[in-house]
Amino acid sequence: MENLSPRAGELEAIEIASREEISVLQFERMKWTLTHAYENSPFYHKSFDELGVHPSDLKTLSDIAKFPFTTKKDLRDTYPFGMFAVPRERLARIHASSGTTGKPTVVGYTARDVETWASLVARSIRASGGRAGDLVHIAYGYGLFTGGLGAHYGAEKLGCTVVPVSGGMTERQVALIQDFKPRIIMVTPSYMLSILDEFRRQGLDPRESSLAVGIFGAEPWTNAMREEIEHAFDMHAVDIYGLSEVMGPGVASECVESKDGLHIWEDHFYPEIIDPVTGAALPDGEIGELVLTTLTKEGLPIIRYRTRDLTRLLPGTARTMRRIEKITGRSDDMMILRGVNVFPTQIEEQILKCRGLAPHFQIELTRSGRMDDMTVHVECTLEAADETARNVSAKELAHHIKNIVGVTTKVMVHSPGGVARSEGKAKRIVDNRPKE
Ligand code: DLL
Repeated sequence: MENLSPRAGELEAIEIASREEISVLQFERMKWTLTHAYENSPFYHKSFDELGVHPSDLKTLSDIAKFPFTTKKDLRDTYPFGMFAVPRERLARIHASSGTTGKPTVVGYTARDVETWASLVARSIRASGGRAGDLVHIAYGYGLFTGGLGAHYGAEKLGCTVVPVSGGMTERQVALIQDFKPRIIMVTPSYMLSILDEFRRQGLDPRESSLAVGIFGAEPWTNAMREEIEHAFDMHAVDIYGLSEVMGPGVASECVESKDGLHIWEDHFYPEIIDPVTGAALPDGEIGELVLTTLTKEGLPIIRYRTRDLTRLLPGTARTMRRIEKITGRSDDMMILRGVNVFPTQIEEQILKCRGLAPHFQIELTRSGRMDDMTVHVECTLEAADETARNVSAKELAHHIKNIVGVTTKVMVHSPGGVARSEGKAKRIVDNRPKE
């Protein structure tokens, strides 16, 4: 694989500024954000007043802990436009996340917010090894989801040639990759695996494709999955993180030269890690829930948004800005089986260790009596598809899960193509337990 480290002069000054310079900028911007939110968003005015805090109470960055959290419920309760801090007419764009239940959460961007967002996605693509002039194939969904348009504006901003394919029609994805020869692909890691299957189905060698870099996010994926994809395509696989409530893709990004977690673009977002149960702030290095405050957003400033994503803060490496460790999962996706906490990413890691299994999987939860049971539905590879091989793979996986994750599971090994595919975010958990 190519060495894609940035050359001298390619980075923005702030990416390699001192911690002191970053903190000074963050404080100034945090003060602006709190004041803007308090003065212009009736929601924040009320929630600050209820807690008895005022923007002038911010004397140092850590004083942010005095301010109230914002949750997804707050966005739902103020649906559709109740949290915005500018009149609707000043918004250039609306996005929304579908959510599994109830109303979607709606977010809005001023023209300046769209511009900031594009710059941060451009920075993320550059960190991943992209450069002006690259052809970028975007297979994140376009529409209300922030993935497609977020990636699109960023790639254009960097000076790339954008192919806005969106998700789906996997055969066509492969045809366009073969014909247009993109250097970069932006897509969910689970959909990249479907594209990989399609390459193989058509008898094409994915390692011969033009792809040099994949920028994967929107769902948790493991380092084991990174190795799998990098090997299959002979390309770099780099992680990008974001969420609509805070902006969209490009809140944090890995650097291709280190691939050691995602640098949070701290000039625009202030991260904290809290104990998800008590809400207390945790020191850097400890695992907890990521909480983010926007520092420059006009349309929808967000104060201390509880992401539900579990990770920890680490010092900067390839950049001075701090990193988050690859996300283990969302607290909503944590399954508790006989007292053991289990995340889908832990199952993914074990599947990738079994040679006879392909990395497509779903976890089904059922209940017998008062106990929850877990069945892992996974696929065999074409080479290990006979009954004996499948039984061996099933036993091997159940054994790894028992030994390393610590839970007893049933494993069902399906034929290739037997596990439901997604064209965007994979649905990892199917909850068939009786409703309470
Ligand atoms: O998924 C934005 C995005 C699009 C990010 C494209 C990256 C690439 P939402 O639909 O609002 O926005 O979902 C946000 O997805 O809270 C995480 O739980 C999860 N997520 C996003 N990126 C990652 C990642 C977009 N790199 C939610 N690793 C977040 C793990 C991720 N989880």
